[in-house]
Amino acid sequence: MKTSGSSVSRRSFLKSSAVLAAPLVIPGSVLGLNGQTAPSNKITMAGAGWGMQGPGNMGNFMNEDDCQVVAFCDVDKEHLKQATDAINGRYGNQDAKGYHDYREMMARTDIDAVMLALPDNWHGLVSVEAANTKKDIFGEKPLARTIREQQAIVKAVQKNGRIWQTGSWQRSVDDFRLAAQIVRSGMIGTLKEVHVGLPAGHSDFAGTGSKTQVTAPPAQLDYEMWIGPAQMEDYIEGRVHKNWRWNYNIGGGQLLDWIGHHCDIAHWGMDMDNGGPSEIKPVQVDFPESTAVWNTATKYRTELTYPGGVKMTIAGGHDDIRGGTKWIGTDGWVWVDRGGFEASNSEWNDPKKRRAIEYKTPLYTTPGHFRNFLDCVKSRKPTVTPVETAHHSAIPGHLSLIALKVNRTLKWDAAREEIIGDEDASKHLGREYRGPWKLA
Ligand SMILES: NC(=O)c1ccc[n+]([C@@H]2O[C@H](COP(=O)([O-])OP(=O)(O)OC[C@H]3O[C@@H](n4cnc5c(N)ncnc54)[C@H](O)[C@@H]3O)[C@@H](O)[C@H]2O)c1
Repeated sequence: MKTSGSSVSRRSFLKSSAVLAAPLVIPGSVLGLNGQTAPSNKITMAGAGWGMQGPGNMGNFMNEDDCQVVAFCDVDKEHLKQATDAINGRYGNQDAKGYHDYREMMARTDIDAVMLALPDNWHGLVSVEAANTKKDIFGEKPLARTIREQQAIVKAVQKNGRIWQTGSWQRSVDDFRLAAQIVRSGMIGTLKEVHVGLPAGHSDFAGTGSKTQVTAPPAQLDYEMWIGPAQMEDYIEGRVHKNWRWNYNIGGGQLLDWIGHHCDIAHWGMDMDNGGPSEIKPVQVDFPESTAVWNTATKYRTELTYPGGVKMTIAGGHDDIRGGTKWIGTDGWVWVDRGGFEASNSEWNDPKKRRAIEYKTPLYTTPGHFRNFLDCVKSRKPTVTPVETAHHSAIPGHLSLIALKVNRTLKWDAAREEIIGDEDASKHLGREYRGPWKLA
């Protein structure tokens, strides 16, 4: 490791100063750069997954002056070309390098942080590899496809001292924070009930829903690598890009697609970022035929019991459970969703009252979800949605799905993270990996 003068790289400095790990970004004004950040002081980033979510995430990072995107990875050659074209177009050069195998990209020692927007079957392996190769990580929700994979990610991130931000961006939006503050401040009295309202059905995000025939994969897609650790299935276009979430081999349906948003906010209000339910009861579910191309639940409902006897209902397609998050207490209620905020007391939405509530019960406030990640990469302080939070926010979704599948009430030991006394249900905490892939 170089130790002297200007030859010390930002990365080797960070490695050698685990405790300090202070930001090295020197304001450009000091260097006579008209307020711009000197190239050598930028956070070097890479990304994986240029599908529905990846481009927007990378666009947000590329808009930040102290971040330089240098590489991208995708197993679809067309998506990869779109990614490198977009990155190089943004910077006006040809510097961004494309990768097919994430392990080669992660092996680079000049990359500080990565953005991962991959189908759920890949979250576990790629996140663990990123943490073990000392990258800070902006990862997507749900944290992973199973609880066992989530535990592996948490362990790898903690062991390697990495900064983690989850794409649960609702925590960076004022309305969601205010709602959580109202609950935490006791303004609705003692919390009794929480509603987590999620979408039902399936949405044809890729416009490929009618393509249900088995065909050969297109030449630009490495389908073997796209399937990765999941079970090998015939290629059917309608269940690959974007629509993979409607097939249990790769995703978890609306329930798991949304749990990392609305249950994440529910937990924020409940102060449950490191806790969870003790009981999960299946109430209703409509599963399509297991052989259907889209086989994830189209309508579902579970009831969960939390410490203090607080009841949570998680539901999709049930009219009495409104989309978004609602907390009901002995003295009132508050409901929040994207673009919607209502409460039993309309004054709570008054801008002046809002400021008083925020002052009385402060909660983590960010300057923006992406900016928060970069700031934390420099400060080494936790982001607003660290890995432990993402883990606990998604667990109620995973357990609900297991309870619905085995069709019986589960008892959950939230501290040990084990299903109590049900060996058969416990098998669903993980999934068998297709060789040669192994979860460390
Ligand atoms: N935070 C949000 O609001 C939000 C919104 C949409 C999606 N997401 C999340 O983003 C993630 C991706 O979802 P999407 O809808 O963008 O999926 P997508 O199918 O549109 O895109 C995934 C991309 O990853 C690529 N890929 C697959 N396996 C790969 C591998 N091993 N290495 C490199 N690339 C690989 C695919 O070829 C594809 O280009 C999911 O976790 C999803 O839940 C989050």
